[in-house]
Amino acid sequence: MNICVMASGWGSNLESIINSQKKGIISSRVALVISNNSNSNALNIARINQIPAVHLSRLRFDSDGEYASEFLNLLKKYNIELIVLAGYLKLLPQVVVHTYKNRILNIHPALLPQFGGKGMYGMFVHEAVIKKGEKFSGATVHLVDEHYDTGPIVLQEKVEVSSDDTPETLQKKVLKIEHKILPEAIKLYETKTPVITGREVKFT
Ligand code: GRF
Repeated sequence: MNICVMASGWGSNLESIINSQKKGIISSRVALVISNNSNSNALNIARINQIPAVHLSRLRFDSDGEYASEFLNLLKKYNIELIVLAGYLKLLPQVVVHTYKNRILNIHPALLPQFGGKGMYGMFVHEAVIKKGEKFSGATVHLVDEHYDTGPIVLQEKVEVSSDDTPETLQKKVLKIEHKILPEAIKLYETKTPVITGREVKFT
């Protein structure tokens, strides 16, 4: 499958997908990387790996419609079959969500539905988990719908929160899990058919 990875930040999840492709863990290829942030390191990681890297920001367009159609044109140009949000902090245009229904994955650094939704991203998530005194945290891969972090769950994996964990040490533990389950979720899409059953995605 041709994958488009969308990222706003450092790009470590993008890197883990590219490494999984190199190791043959997934057969898909990252055909396009898009970031809303021209300084995102994810764009550098793409360029180093000779992957088309595009800065696409709503701020550069006069209307939502023009932005959305440029978005769709890009996805079509690279024959994208699966979109993977890897630390992408913006909502997608509705028309993109509808066009790629059930073919957009997002990685979230917590055990959704807990600690999700608007404003719950990056370090804020780990701070909230520790503040609440949770014994476990983890990462979730879910399908993307019109809202933040509410789509059906594809994969989830837990990690223990130690009493001496800080948001930074917890982030490191969770990131390791993200780098593992995101390629696993892509592999499921390569080899099986997703069936949405309520808030879960089963694969046949
Ligand atoms: C990850 O923690 C991801 O769960 C969250 O944003 C972070 C992205 O990290 N959505 P990176 O840019 O992939 O290193």
